[in-house]
Order: sequence, then C-alpha cells, then structure tokens
Amino acid sequence: KLGVILASAGSAVGLGNIWRFPYETGNHGGAAFILIYLGCILLLGLPIMIAEFLIGRHSQANTARAYQKLAPGTHWRWVGRMGVLAGFLILSYYAVVAGWTLEYILEAATNGFSGKTSGEFITSFQQFSSNPWRPVIWLIAFLLITHFIIVKGVEKGIEKFSKFIMPVLLIMVIGIAIFSLTLKTTLDDGTVRTGLQGLKVYMKPDLTGITVGRFLQITLDAMSQLFFSLSVSMGIMITYGSYVKKDVDLNKAVSQIEIMDTGVAFLAGVMIIPAVFVFSGLDGMSAGPGLMFVSLPKVFKAMGEAGVLVGIVFFLMVSFAAVTSSVSVMEAIVSSMMDKFHVSRKKGTILTTL
Ligand code: PFF
Repeated sequence: KLGVILASAGSAVGLGNIWRFPYETGNHGGAAFILIYLGCILLLGLPIMIAEFLIGRHSQANTARAYQKLAPGTHWRWVGRMGVLAGFLILSYYAVVAGWTLEYILEAATNGFSGKTSGEFITSFQQFSSNPWRPVIWLIAFLLITHFIIVKGVEKGIEKFSKFIMPVLLIMVIGIAIFSLTLKTTLDDGTVRTGLQGLKVYMKPDLTGITVGRFLQITLDAMSQLFFSLSVSMGIMITYGSYVKKDVDLNKAVSQIEIMDTGVAFLAGVMIIPAVFVFSGLDGMSAGPGLMFVSLPKVFKAMGEAGVLVGIVFFLMVSFAAVTSSVSVMEAIVSSMMDKFHVSRKKGTILTTL
C-alpha cells in the first residue's frame, strides 16, 4: 500500500507544486486562488482520483485497455486515448522546465547567484530561457534520464527513489519557507518590507475587483492546476490503481495523496511568495513561469555562503521530483504503446523520447 501511495505521490508532487502553483497563485492575486483551488480539490480532485484508481483496480489494466475492458465496443476508449495524448503533450513542455532546473543546479554550484543584483536575476533568466541552445541541451539531458529509467523498468528504482526524496524535499521546502519569512528589506523611501507581510498577501483573500468573469477565469485556471498537479486524466492513476489490492481503502489512500500534494504546493507558495514580495513588491508576483527561477536564487543569495549549498541541494531535489513525475507520464505512454502496437519496451521508449 505504501509503495503505491508513494509512487502516486511521486507522480503528483513535482514541478506542478513547486514551480507552477506559486506562479499561478501570484498571477491571480494570492489567497483567492488558493481558496478556489481547495474547493476544486474537494469537488473534483478527490472524486476523479478515486474514479481512476477504481477503474484501474477493477479492470486490472493500463489506460489503453481499461476503458475497452470495462465498456467494450463503446466510445469510452477514446477517453483513455485522449489521456495518453494529454500526458504526451504535457511531457513535451514539462521536460523543458525540468531542464531549467538542471541549469540552475549548475548555476548554484558555480556560485552564480552571489554577485547579481535584483534586476540581473531577471535578465539572466530571460537570456537563458530564450537562448536557442542551452535549454535544448538540458531538455535532451532530462529526457534521456527519463528514457533510461523507463527502459530499465520503473518498479524498484522509482519506489526507492520516491521514499528517499519525498521526505528530503519536504524538509527543504519547510526550511526555506521559514527562512523566507524572516527576510526584510528597506526601500529608498524608508518603507520596510518583510516576509511576514508577504505571507499576509499570500494568505488573505483580496476580493476587491472580483467580477463574475474573473471568478470563472480563476476557477478554470484552478481546475487546470488541479489536473496538472494531481496527474489525473492522463491514465497514470489508472495504471497505478491496477496495482492496488482489493482490501485497500481507496478513500483514505487518495485523501493522503491529495493532502501531501496540496501541502507541498501550499508550502512552496510560502517559500516563494513572501520572498517575491520582499524583493520585488506586489508587481513581482505576476512574473509568470520565471517566478521560481528569479525569486529563489535571490533567497539563496540572501543566505550568504550557506545559500550555495542550499541552492544546489534544492534544485537537485526539484529535478528529482520532476523525474518521478516525468517517469510516470512516460510509463503510461510507453505501456499503452506496447499494448496497442505490440512494440518492445525499448522501441516504445525510443519512439516516445524522439
Ligand atoms: N503532477 C506533476 C507535477 O505536479 O509536477 C506533473 C505531471 C505529471 C503532469 C504527470 C502530468 C502528468 F501526466
């Protein structure tokens, strides 16, 4: 039971929590987004994940086969196929962002954060991410790591990997979050900005100016975040569900996975948003996909010498978390290809990676 929970949590917890959740929250003005997200978890996340586990456990099959087995001759099989396609499309950009984390391990290790001014953190991220070569090389490196894990077979490796990195990642996120709350700057005009004020921005819903249209937009974005973060509707949980024994209480297992996933996302916000507030004010919150890559290096710089090590270990952990997620998507794609087109594991993986 623990193995399945950890593997599912390994798939769920990744860049979606640490990179995507904070910038989505920042883009939508903080706590209002979090509140709506929590509502979506209860109304959508729990039932969908339980449903996927049930479909997998009942059919004892992967996505490609599960719907066909449960509803032969109907169009339900298209739901399974669309899931595999969605996973494929997501993986193709997930690996790009995961590649960015590899670059930042190197940056941290070569002491790249120490001499930069606030503005330089932004320009260096922009220059790097729009460079025609470097991100592509990291993308290929990340895909190859995922590729070789899939070729070797996932079972043992991934489970052990998840057992080790999940607790370490959690401890790091909590530690950095606490440090972020202690940050403080004094602006030229004498105003003081503290991490605790930033926490208030993060946690206190600001409902001024919320119209029906805006509410619907935030809800839609919260739902996108939810599907992404929980790895649902991509066939992954169906495959994992087929490994769950009949006597396991699915409600409980799924609740545990979702609490873990939402907990890490929330803490990642505490780690990033107060720091953004201290260094860049409210304007910095809507930085979009660069948020983590700009604000965290500033935090590591503020830590002084210890920040070099913390930076290396942090980006290493995030890239590990990204691997446990990318592996689950690629496994769902490859196993469906093996099933459908009768190709070998190796051939299926090569085609997917290409
Ligand atoms: N849930 C993963 C995360 O939050 O990082 C990302 C992910 C994994 C998305 C698998 C989609 C997927 F099929």
